[in-house]
Amino acid sequence: MIRFENVTKRFGRKTVLDRVNLEIQAGETFVIVGLSGAGKSVSLRHMVRLLVPEEGRVWVGEDCVSEASGAGLDRILRRFGMLFQGAALLQWLNVEDNVCLPLRQKTNLPDDEIRRRAEEKLALVGLRDAGDKMPDSISGGMRKRVGLARAIVTQPEIILYDEPTSGLDPVISRQIDLLIDSLRQRLGVTSVVVTHDLYSALQIGSRVAMLHEGRFVEMAPPADFIASKHPVVRDFLRSQGIVTLQDVRKAFET
Ligand SMILES: Nc1ncnc2c1ncn2[C@@H]1O[C@H](COP(=O)(O)OP(=O)(O)O)[C@@H](O)[C@H]1O
Ligand SMILES: [Mg+2]
Repeated sequence: MIRFENVTKRFGRKTVLDRVNLEIQAGETFVIVGLSGAGKSVSLRHMVRLLVPEEGRVWVGEDCVSEASGAGLDRILRRFGMLFQGAALLQWLNVEDNVCLPLRQKTNLPDDEIRRRAEEKLALVGLRDAGDKMPDSISGGMRKRVGLARAIVTQPEIILYDEPTSGLDPVISRQIDLLIDSLRQRLGVTSVVVTHDLYSALQIGSRVAMLHEGRFVEMAPPADFIASKHPVVRDFLRSQGIVTLQDVRKAFET
């Protein structure tokens, strides 16, 4: 579904991605973890052409997104929904209008149909009655859910999440994780999640990949990721107090 072929990205003299290879399957939840500054967001941005590699190619299905342009690029980008870090809601629009926005910008659907779809997605994220509220009057967790409704309102095949739980308390974070997982099940989407929260990663990922010094040092299903012998992965697990999958499950039992 999404494929990195020897992707190298540099900023000045700093190599952030160093000949990275990656293949994300349709329907999976692929989670990229790593320390701050490891290149997680940079990786995600390559998938939607917000960045282009110095070398290598990025593929979405049969299309090379890193070399597409014009209508071809638009067609690729329409397959994506995005919940980016700090993806702010427009403060002067109410919740429902924020969710309607992508449909108003990208389609010619009649307004009642746009509203119907927005309400349906708000219900899906548990915000059935919040459409009239203004963004600054709701909690951070609710704002994330509005962002999520906005990301899925165009019915994308692929959803990209950049740090969907950052800045949220642990209880709300776990709720967002469960929501991401239920969207995958109900909408059958392919998801790519970037996070520094290993609990999230190991709970929702079909595979977890760790970026370190420009490379993926581990890429495996959660149970195998936890058993990794790579010292960088072991340190990362230990730093978040995770020894077994049981530790992760416990965090979700509340
Ligand atoms: N547009 C940019 N210009 C210059 N440097 C950048 C840019 N975007 C990211 N970087 C650098 O690339 C590295 C990886 O950044 P990023 O992917 O945002 O890290 P994270 O893993 O925390 O998401 C960092 O050192 C960052 O400073
Ligand atoms: Mg980031």
